[in-house]
Amino acid sequence: MTQGSLFEANTTHDRQESASGRYSDLADLMEQSKTCTKCRLSATRKNFVFGEGNPRARLVVIGEAPGADEDTLGRPFVGRSGKLLDKILEAIGFSRNDVFICNIIKCRPPENRNPLKDEIECCMPWLTGQLELIAPKMLLLLGRVAANTILDNKQSMNGMRGKIIRWNGFDTVVTYHPAALLRNPNWKRQCWEDVQMLRQHYDKVCGT
Ligand code: URA
Repeated sequence: MTQGSLFEANTTHDRQESASGRYSDLADLMEQSKTCTKCRLSATRKNFVFGEGNPRARLVVIGEAPGADEDTLGRPFVGRSGKLLDKILEAIGFSRNDVFICNIIKCRPPENRNPLKDEIECCMPWLTGQLELIAPKMLLLLGRVAANTILDNKQSMNGMRGKIIRWNGFDTVVTYHPAALLRNPNWKRQCWEDVQMLRQHYDKVCGT
């Protein structure tokens, strides 16, 4: 991991610092996070979108940020992109209940602009807490913003997709964000290849 990465603080094994020391479980983390006011987005959000799914999931799916539908309902990926995400997951044999779905930031940025660096920094402890408590084997990162943020790089989508990336103990796959696929259906074939690869690797490492 590079120096200064957003995840650096999370490499400590000190229980005082770790999520498993501070939160009894994922429900406790959710309870404590949902009133967060660490950044400006708390003033404009309708709901804090913690994420949802299986608290013992072996695959965590991470998008960018809640949109208008997610903000209204307080649930991740419930709009048009979410419907497509459901189909992508179904195509490789997963329901929403098999995995855990969340975003790098938990509150909607106004006008759906990209999250700002300081907003990501404020929000990252919630995500690192989620990953620590769920302890999945694999991550699926949706889109370049999520992937560049988590992998702490500036690579293009083509530099990151199509392979398994070992990151902080998680076998990680990057693919196109469903919203990008809605705009560019030509990319669906590459997404299909990415998630097929993910499923094969998942079966290998999770023994299912
Ligand atoms: N796009 C995202 O990145 N996340 C959501 O939850 C919805 C749309």
